Amino acid sequence: MTVRTLLKMGDSRLLQVAKPVTEFNTEALDQLIADMDDTMAAANGAGLAAPQIGVDLQVVIFGTGAPNPRYPDAPIVPRTVLINPVITPMGDEEEEGWEGCLSVPGLRGRVPRWQRIRYTGFDPQGNAIDRTVDSFHARVVQHECDHLKGVLYPMRVRDFTQFGFTEVLFPQLV
Ligand code: NI
Repeated sequence: MTVRTLLKMGDSRLLQVAKPVTEFNTEALDQLIADMDDTMAAANGAGLAAPQIGVDLQVVIFGTGAPNPRYPDAPIVPRTVLINPVITPMGDEEEEGWEGCLSVPGLRGRVPRWQRIRYTGFDPQGNAIDRTVDSFHARVVQHECDHLKGVLYPMRVRDFTQFGFTEVLFPQLV
């Protein structure tokens, strides 16, 4: 049980392309995921990617299976550990939505994402995951998997009139 330090935007480790996991079902991988769970829970995150705690591996976690106080209006996303993910857009429809990031504290921005995606990858035991999802679930997966490519959501904001401090944009969330 360890809440790890979250890296913040500006740290060059957040700009790296993460390495694929090559060994599943190991104590080290389980420990990493436990630390990510604790860190995400302590920050009320909707998701977390390993590079955000300084670990250069293609591991993301998202969803809690319960409503999230940082995104109270969002649909519930099942708790998922996703390793070595691959995202394929289903169709060319985009959707704009507000995002925040634990590595970009205090800010929110409107970000375009694919409305519907298929994602594949592996769970910690090496079992295949293959899901087709849309809306908020699809947004969270795209956001977290961007971290594995060194992309933070502000890099995808197109309209900077739709980017600002959470306490100003959404005072009810502070
Ligand atoms: Ni993030």
